[in-house]
Amino acid sequence: MRNITLDNITEAVTGAMKPDIPDRNREIMTAAIKHFHAFAKEVKLTHGEWLEGCEWMRRAGEISSEARNEFILICDILGVEVLVDMLDNAVTDGESESTVLGPFYRENPPVLPKGASIVQKDFDNQKTVRVSGRIVDVAGNPIEGVRIDVWEDAPNGLYEQQDPDQPDYNLRGRFLTEADGSYEFVGLRPEPYPIPYDGAAGELLNFMGHHPMRPGHIHFMISKEGYKPLISQIYDSQTEYLDNDAVFAVKESLIGDMTPAPEGADTDLVMQFDFRLKPAAAAEAVAAE
Ligand code: BEZ
Ligand code: FE
Repeated sequence: MRNITLDNITEAVTGAMKPDIPDRNREIMTAAIKHFHAFAKEVKLTHGEWLEGCEWMRRAGEISSEARNEFILICDILGVEVLVDMLDNAVTDGESESTVLGPFYRENPPVLPKGASIVQKDFDNQKTVRVSGRIVDVAGNPIEGVRIDVWEDAPNGLYEQQDPDQPDYNLRGRFLTEADGSYEFVGLRPEPYPIPYDGAAGELLNFMGHHPMRPGHIHFMISKEGYKPLISQIYDSQTEYLDNDAVFAVKESLIGDMTPAPEGADTDLVMQFDFRLKPAAAAEAVAAE
């Protein structure tokens, strides 16, 4: 197209793709270009605003590293990570809901026996909680030998890798379920905390007038061969920010109660939470549809 106008620019760009690119590339880029152009037209984006946006993306790249991907954080605060998770991991057979992984997972946490504590350092204002439950299949049968990685923030709102005063792998552990599908560990009541807001994601939060806080939660990564892996979080029903999570990751089905432990127990609180896994075969069949 030689004469580019407001009316033909979108067609000019989508039409410039070669015929032999993969169909999925064409599908993704045609929609992306259409929506991006429509967005610029709708808000009558000025040249200055566009340039500000490009500079902001440059800063997002600049602060990113192997250890920090600012673009994932930006997607989080725009609800894109949770949206993609819901699209890609739609519940089909009554299995437990997934939610975002977040940036604080670490490989190879300490392998601990059932009932062990993941607390390596005490905090003045901490409340200990014994978390227990069962991992079952979608028919309710217990699954033995399921690997469960758990991780959570400390009462100061920091994960151990954000805080030089916490021991390595504090508040992290790996557990295996017993024959009856049961798991159990001792952790701390998780505190609400701000997602990292010292970079481009924080600038965007300011721009949108949104806060960086997440409700108190414990992360779970659950896997066993033959089952679809589950990345999820459980939320304390008494925590703040359940209704306005900065990353929109809360699901009603993932909220549980932390209640006072029975007389004589060795923790302040207890929480019971079961997860249901679906077979990997069912997961693959749905993905192929
Ligand atoms: C988290 O829960 O650890 C998290 C999730 C998304 C962005 C930042 C943190
Ligand atoms: Fe988290």
